[in-house]
Amino acid sequence: MSHKAVETNIGLMGILILLVVSVGGIVEIVPLMAQVESTGPAEGIEPFPPLELAGRDIYVREGCYVCHSQQVRPFRSETERYGQFSVAGESVYDRPFQWGSKRTGPDLARVGGRYSDDWHRVHLINPRDVVPESNMPGFPWLMEAAVDHESIAGRMEVLQMLGHPYTDEQIAGAAAAVEGKSEMDAMIAYLQGLGPDRR
Ligand code: HEC
Repeated sequence: MSHKAVETNIGLMGILILLVVSVGGIVEIVPLMAQVESTGPAEGIEPFPPLELAGRDIYVREGCYVCHSQQVRPFRSETERYGQFSVAGESVYDRPFQWGSKRTGPDLARVGGRYSDDWHRVHLINPRDVVPESNMPGFPWLMEAAVDHESIAGRMEVLQMLGHPYTDEQIAGAAAAVEGKSEMDAMIAYLQGLGPDRR
């Protein structure tokens, strides 16, 4: 087939372009699926302990991700502000992942340990008590509600089925680990766990 035949036939050219782009895409994407670096846990990354897992569910329920991303991008402006950039292996136990792209508020991937538990409590009840110019809404009801301790073991079992390495003992002890805790306790445990240690 001569070059001219391709260049003068837009239909044929379209098909060939599609072919090249698909092969190129497959060649780039498929090996990633088999690479432990992109599918396995990064060093030191463990599934969320029960209280943090409960906090994570509350984070999703309350829509915190609408304003907060959890992915530090590999740019200097980001790493100087938030810390070490995120890698895929940090999110293997995050279902669904909370990377996000909307940042009305700051990225939270490295927020753990940046503030005290008390700071978070005051901030979550009414952000303006600690950051006067904040437009983040308050979530005072987290203080009132108790963590749903009855469903936590079931939720861990599902994750275990999906391949999270929870042990049966961890699951058996889950309800006791969150019983009597408020949703605020769970949320703070989750936020404090999103620290540099998750890297
Ligand atoms: C309407 C957007 C919005 C929503 C929804 C929202 N936030 Fe925020 N958040 C902000 C903004 C803006 C800031 C920066 C000002 C401040 O610190 O209050 C912020 C700051 C924070 C900070 C401090 C981060 C830092 O590095 O200083 C934390 C922690 C936080 N939010 C947690 C949460 C959690 C948890 C939820 C869900 C319960 C939530 N936010 C929901 C907008 C939002």
